[in-house]
Amino acid sequence: MKDMASDIERVLISEEKIKDKVSEIGKKISKDYAGKDLMLIGILKGSVPFMAHLMKEITIPCTMDFMAVSSYGNSTTSSGVVRILKDLDFEIEGKHLLIVEDIIDSGITLSYLLKYLKGRKPLSIDIACLLNKPDRRKADLDVKYLGYDVPDEFLVGYGLDYAEHYRNLPYIGILKEEIYK
Ligand code: IMP
Ligand code: MG
Repeated sequence: MKDMASDIERVLISEEKIKDKVSEIGKKISKDYAGKDLMLIGILKGSVPFMAHLMKEITIPCTMDFMAVSSYGNSTTSSGVVRILKDLDFEIEGKHLLIVEDIIDSGITLSYLLKYLKGRKPLSIDIACLLNKPDRRKADLDVKYLGYDVPDEFLVGYGLDYAEHYRNLPYIGILKEEIYK
């Protein structure tokens, strides 16, 4: 069996750098939401490592829930339609929501989700995202907590997948082109 690391062109963000950044974001969230009814909403499956890590860096009481979505057809079109594969288990009315996501590319997935969840009248709704590809943005999005801006390369690891693999790498790496071409 081949090692995953041999499919990686180079490491873009090390495990150590991720750790520091997530801890910094957790501290900010703990300060900003002190005394508020905070609910973290992880978007499956890419957000799982970030969510698991971030929740441990948050020192105030909070609850959590998960959603699973998939882009409908061609995600590069601006229709912005996203299919909900798993909806929330809990009511969100009167809660302060923080959507936890791995990476924003076009922004279509999150801008659809924001609209969808706003309809259920949370007190506030914001985004915490580890990575952002600013060059690829199609939908306007305000990201309250952002880890790193990244170049337009195909990234894997720390939740990010290629064909459902590499999510368990502890760092963010650039996938070798020969793997997906
Ligand atoms: P958006 O709707 O275009 O912003 O889609 C964001 C989603 O695309 C993320 O949640 C990821 O699942 C996926 N994605 C975007 N860029 C990458 C990448 O470089 N590697 C793996 N998945 C990616
Ligand atoms: Mg995703």
